[in-house]
Amino acid sequence: MNTSAIDIFCGIGGLSYGLKKAGISVAAGLDIDKSCKYPYEKNVQAEFISRDVSNLRGKEIIGRYWSTDVSKILAGCAPCQPFSTHSNKIKDKTQTRRWRLIHEFKRLVRETNPHIVTMENVPNLANQEIFEDFVAFLELSEYYVTYSNVYCPDYGIPQKRRRLVLLASKYGKISLLHKTHSKGEYVTLRQAIKHLPPVEAGEECKSDLLHRTSKLSPINLQRIKASKPNGTWLDWSEDLQLECHKKETGRTYNAVYGRMAWDEPSPTITTQFYNYGTGRFGHPTQNRALTMREAAILQTFPEDFVFYESKKDILLKRLSAYIGNAVPVKLAVVIGESILNHLEVHNDRS
Ligand SMILES: C[S@@+](CC[C@H](N)C(=O)[O-])C[C@H]1O[C@@H](n2cnc3c(N)ncnc32)[C@H](O)[C@@H]1O
Repeated sequence: MNTSAIDIFCGIGGLSYGLKKAGISVAAGLDIDKSCKYPYEKNVQAEFISRDVSNLRGKEIIGRYWSTDVSKILAGCAPCQPFSTHSNKIKDKTQTRRWRLIHEFKRLVRETNPHIVTMENVPNLANQEIFEDFVAFLELSEYYVTYSNVYCPDYGIPQKRRRLVLLASKYGKISLLHKTHSKGEYVTLRQAIKHLPPVEAGEECKSDLLHRTSKLSPINLQRIKASKPNGTWLDWSEDLQLECHKKETGRTYNAVYGRMAWDEPSPTITTQFYNYGTGRFGHPTQNRALTMREAAILQTFPEDFVFYESKKDILLKRLSAYIGNAVPVKLAVVIGESILNHLEVHNDRS
């Protein structure tokens, strides 16, 4: 069965790349950040539409990409910051600009009437009214809808990321493929990145320009040297502790300034993985945070994925945002294979 996917909020294409790898034909990706164009088109080999999704009308998609008889797939992963747990405290979330992007997703479903819809986001989105509204709209529009909280190690991804994955189909019941790994079989940090050459904080690896991370200040270098895998800042001597740690409330901040452990999957890769102070991003044995290459591998980007056009584009902050924001490629493959499996079953029945 011929397929045609449009990926809204495509970034550099973690989702598109995985869908394509699974065997889905990706027609185009759309993102407001035009710097994603080069890596998206280079890796996905599909058109990049540099636009705000709010300005895209359904008839543009239908006219340009979906005029033929194919199974039409609308895929997307809206920015997740409004729904992450730490932003729960924002009082009037409906006022945040990004909040309405889920409504834009819904509008595009209404205007394009795809056969399949898939959406990926943080699990906390499932607790929000806006998500209930989205699901109710899909059901009213005669889609079969399923969604689940996916633990990435269950699919062989070496990272403890949890993601909400929604699948909806006009053809019939649809679900995500079964887990491929269980506890005890999870791919570990050691298996994923141990083969890479050692680098110092701030050093450029000559054989791989992506294998680089941020410099550490002298005090942070002392702190990481005193950190143990899976330990906390409580392992440090008092002179290394931060003032905020010494307060009663600070004693609970134990997920920052941490080192990872070799024999388990990594913690969730955020856009801040290059910053030792923002999470458990310290390398298990080297005195530095994760490099871009390591984070890309943990997000299951293949080693030949092209992240930049020329050396001047290797900007730590920008590339780390591309990597940390992406749908892990392997999860996108699972989503793509689940869709193809569903289409095959449906075809056999009709
Ligand atoms: C979570 S990231 C998507 C990651 C991507 N799916 C991947 O797998 O690599 C969200 C993306 O939404 C884009 N974005 C934010 N606001 C947007 C808007 N109004 N219109 C289009 N794209 C937008 C951001 O630039 C960012 O690339």
